[in-house]
Amino acid sequence: MSEPGYRAVSRRESRSLAGYKHACHAMLYAAEPGKLFGKIPLRHALLMQMRFDGKIGFPGGFVDTRDGSLEEGLNRELSEELGCDPKWLRIAEADYASSHATEALPQKVVAHFYTKRISLDELRKVEMSAVHAKDHGREVMGTIRVPLYTLRDGFGGLPAFLTNTFIGNAKDQLIYALRTLNLLSEGELQAAVGASRDGYESTTSRSGKGCP
Ligand code: IMP
Repeated sequence: MSEPGYRAVSRRESRSLAGYKHACHAMLYAAEPGKLFGKIPLRHALLMQMRFDGKIGFPGGFVDTRDGSLEEGLNRELSEELGCDPKWLRIAEADYASSHATEALPQKVVAHFYTKRISLDELRKVEMSAVHAKDHGREVMGTIRVPLYTLRDGFGGLPAFLTNTFIGNAKDQLIYALRTLNLLSEGELQAAVGASRDGYESTTSRSGKGCP
């Protein structure tokens, strides 16, 4: 399923679309064996970011396809937003996941999406270097981890996170990645998406549970 106004295109087809700008974004994630409050498995640490416009998205940005490959452009953007040494954090064509085209105003854009599994130590390094990156406090207000669990009230955690405002098709990209990388079961994912749609009041009154 795609965000309204977005259609899936192949990587190859996207390159022949005239008049489209290309944007590339990457989801970095790592296995996280820790538990919240000593009991709720965190499962994975997965990075998104709070943008300058108050919306949530993945690191990345527009790339100039006349100026090299999509991945070269993406790696340049990542070093500006995350401040990582491109020698140890490199997104390659093998990390490519999907492309979606939109003609929504103000411009025609193809959003390319990449996912990359790294170690938890590397992910922590990314979080720390992001604070010193060129864009920190300007285009990027901060890197955030996505809560992948759902609390006992049926709403806290991922459902609440999904009620945020996302840029472009970032929310679909997140859900697509959680599904295709098997980071959550289909049942857990559908329950979280459903609860986020129903909202806190309706979910908690149905489950009859208060908070944590
Ligand atoms: P900018 O980062 O605001 O310059 O956005 C560049 C283009 O990428 C715009 O078309 C945004 O809608 C889109 N965009 C920004 N972040 C994401 C994301 O995380 N996923 C998908 N598209 C995005």
